Amino acid sequence: MRRKDFLRQTGLAAMALATPKSHLFGAAAAAGNTAPSDHKVPAIPSGSAGTKVRIAVIGTGLRGQSHLSLLARRSDVEVIAICDVDDRMLDSAKAIFSKKGLPLPKVYTGDPYAWRQLLAQQSLDGVLIATPWEWHNEMIIGALDAGLKYVATEVILGLTLDDHWAVVKAAEKHQAHVMMLENVCYRRDVMAVLNMVRQGLFGELIHLQGGYQHNLRDVKFNDGKQAYGGGCEFGEKAFSEARWRTQHSVFRNGDLYPTHGIGPIANYININRGNRFTSLCSFSSKARGLHDHIVKQCGPNHPNAAVKFKLGDVVTTSINCANGETILLQHDTNLPRPYSLGFRVQGTNGLWMDVAQSIYIDGQSKSDEWDPSSTWLEKYDHPLWKRWSKESEGAGHGGMDFFVVQAFIESIKRGTPTPLDVYDAASWSAITPLSEASIAGGNKTVEFPDFTSGKWADRKTLFALTDEY
Ligand SMILES: NC(=O)c1ccc[n+]([C@@H]2O[C@H](COP(=O)([O-])OP(=O)(O)OC[C@H]3O[C@@H](n4cnc5c(N)ncnc54)[C@H](O)[C@@H]3O)[C@@H](O)[C@H]2O)c1
Repeated sequence: MRRKDFLRQTGLAAMALATPKSHLFGAAAAAGNTAPSDHKVPAIPSGSAGTKVRIAVIGTGLRGQSHLSLLARRSDVEVIAICDVDDRMLDSAKAIFSKKGLPLPKVYTGDPYAWRQLLAQQSLDGVLIATPWEWHNEMIIGALDAGLKYVATEVILGLTLDDHWAVVKAAEKHQAHVMMLENVCYRRDVMAVLNMVRQGLFGELIHLQGGYQHNLRDVKFNDGKQAYGGGCEFGEKAFSEARWRTQHSVFRNGDLYPTHGIGPIANYININRGNRFTSLCSFSSKARGLHDHIVKQCGPNHPNAAVKFKLGDVVTTSINCANGETILLQHDTNLPRPYSLGFRVQGTNGLWMDVAQSIYIDGQSKSDEWDPSSTWLEKYDHPLWKRWSKESEGAGHGGMDFFVVQAFIESIKRGTPTPLDVYDAASWSAITPLSEASIAGGNKTVEFPDFTSGKWADRKTLFALTDEY
């Protein structure tokens, strides 16, 4: 489904026509042809005036502002331009610069396609996209077609498999780098476990679990004034993510947010670098949580109590891999529950379970007893965290947001591929439409596309090999 079709089908198009400053719609982006993408582009030397990395940010909502705060802390970056359609969000974004006494970036606004002007007018080294999901595809491809060699996007490349292929083909055609800003790949415990995996502590990996298990009810509904809770509105009466994200729970059923779970797992088993996802099968529970939340918070007579949500409260997906591992992913965002991504990394010699905060290593742990994971995680702290933990203080999500932005900027400075690339982004994003197809087809098993077109067998891992970025 293309973005404009999705919007038309979900009624967001009508909403957009009524509110031209927040959601409007346009044609889907074009795809290119193939060419190698593991290549170098000229490096930008850093450290002296005039050689800063020139960045623009499209989408200055809550996530865009978080990225802007990190970029504004860096002496090697100049934020040249920002773009949004919402004055309130733009004002908050501008305040990040004025509070620090930094020059204000040029602002592009007033039109949902103002980002095209930004891309055409500014000379940039990279762009960072933090808009609603339905905009990502068009904006990523627009940036690539405008000649940008480095494009960072927030979670999810697009809505459909065709969207994901279009980004891969455009990146190949333009020999450009597209990095998904999947911050959980850089979580400290996730990286310590990566270190343990690479040092063979768990033996040969056999089975992995993870997911997005986070009560988002106060993200999906608010009062239109604050971002989290305080009411039961979504769509045009709501603020921030409830304005657009909740609509996806009305008309879609699948794993809508796979990347927090699958990103780290893909790094553990070298997906697209000697391994690949081969097939997938998804199951969905009934949908009760969002309706239940509205009734409990705002009563049975609130207009949104009549909305029928399609997204099952717990969507469970099994994935097969070329090297024989199995993966179990869960999307669980509609029910009251404490946050946990539910990681389990299990091999021939032991396992990590993050909910239990425990690790067992055969021959080193007491027989049949869990060790507290902290003992192992501290010992195997990843070199990146050892080196940069001070700089990451205060960055979002416990510091991991620092690392994902750092990786993007350092790749630009060195003219190297980003450590998470377009094939990773496409493979992880593809889980959403594949899980929707599996559920819609009665839990049928669906084949996983090979976005690398066979290159996966010989590609080498780039992610977090040193303490640099
Ligand atoms: N990795 C993480 O931990 C994390 C956390 C939160 C959000 N996200 C992701 O970040 C993205 C943005 O989420 P958010 O929380 O900032 O949402 P948000 O609603 O707060 O911000 C989105 C912004 O995009 C703007 N926008 C919409 N259409 C636009 C257009 N045509 N041109 C320019 N701007 C436009 C909106 O006005 C809004 O300010 C989403 O992909 C979300 O999934 C990731």
